[in-house]
Amino acid sequence: QSRNEKPPLKILLCSPRGFCAGVVRAIDAVERALAVYGAPVYVRHEIVHNRYVVEALKAKGAIFVEALAEVPNTEAPVIFSAHGVPKSVSAEAAGRNLLAIDATCPLVTKVHREAEIHHRRGRRVLLVGHAGHPEVVGTMGQLPEGAVMLIESVADVEALALGEEENLAYATQTTLSLDDSQEVIGALTKRFPNIVGPHKEDICYATTNRQAAVKRVAPQVDAVLVVGSPNSSNSQRLREVAERSGAPARLVQGRSEIDWKVFGSVRRLGITAGASAPEVLVEEIMDAFAERFEITVETISAADENVSFPLPRELRAIA
Ligand code: F3S
Repeated sequence: QSRNEKPPLKILLCSPRGFCAGVVRAIDAVERALAVYGAPVYVRHEIVHNRYVVEALKAKGAIFVEALAEVPNTEAPVIFSAHGVPKSVSAEAAGRNLLAIDATCPLVTKVHREAEIHHRRGRRVLLVGHAGHPEVVGTMGQLPEGAVMLIESVADVEALALGEEENLAYATQTTLSLDDSQEVIGALTKRFPNIVGPHKEDICYATTNRQAAVKRVAPQVDAVLVVGSPNSSNSQRLREVAERSGAPARLVQGRSEIDWKVFGSVRRLGITAGASAPEVLVEEIMDAFAERFEITVETISAADENVSFPLPRELRAIA
């Protein structure tokens, strides 16, 4: 064996990984709006939680803001991100006569409507999710202030100052860890046997399938790389799922973030990508490994996906 020969590396690629239907639709909406209205178009919050995607859209003329107050009075459209917005934001846009395009994922909108129905039927709504995440802010903001209580853990369930007789319902964030949410929902239904909830939970198909693939791959590898941004909830959950299955895991946004102290010595590597991470980043990372290793790649599939959503209504007519 010559000294220059590269060591072998087996890569197990998780499938499905990367873009979900809600992310594809949200990015398409920004691109379509740019094509129809021309630059600039305003986007409230990162359209999806991925730096690469945001930078690419900025280069095409999208302007990202955190609050509508940053948008001037303009004819240019304002696009709401895939995570959804509180009702107050839609109302503010309407009040200012802004041309709002709602790119909220339809699976998030479904949770919004469920919360409204529970409220109308007199149920107090408990939302299982992570404080501060924009999806949670958006879902809580579907109902009047104080109508939704946020539950982050089993401890929160135990600490709830509610009687068993209360008329309760729960909903969840779409990108939670399946295992963690089972525990919290289990605690809720144990403490409040009459609580009303969704059929299974509100965790979406994309979250479910990406976690299932990581669970399959993690026990077979030395380490797992999750391609995704740190503020991406579903990417962080993929990292946790891998670690719980026994593989050290790291979240990276691109090849420059690979920690070669950890990944330079692995012989079997799992790779997946969060729902907002484009495949080009996975390819770039595989290239980085191919420069150091003789790689062989096997895809491990946990589910087939063929979900797609039509563009937001505001764009469909003119698309
Ligand atoms: Fe929608 Fe799930 Fe993607 S809620 S945006 S399909 S991660």
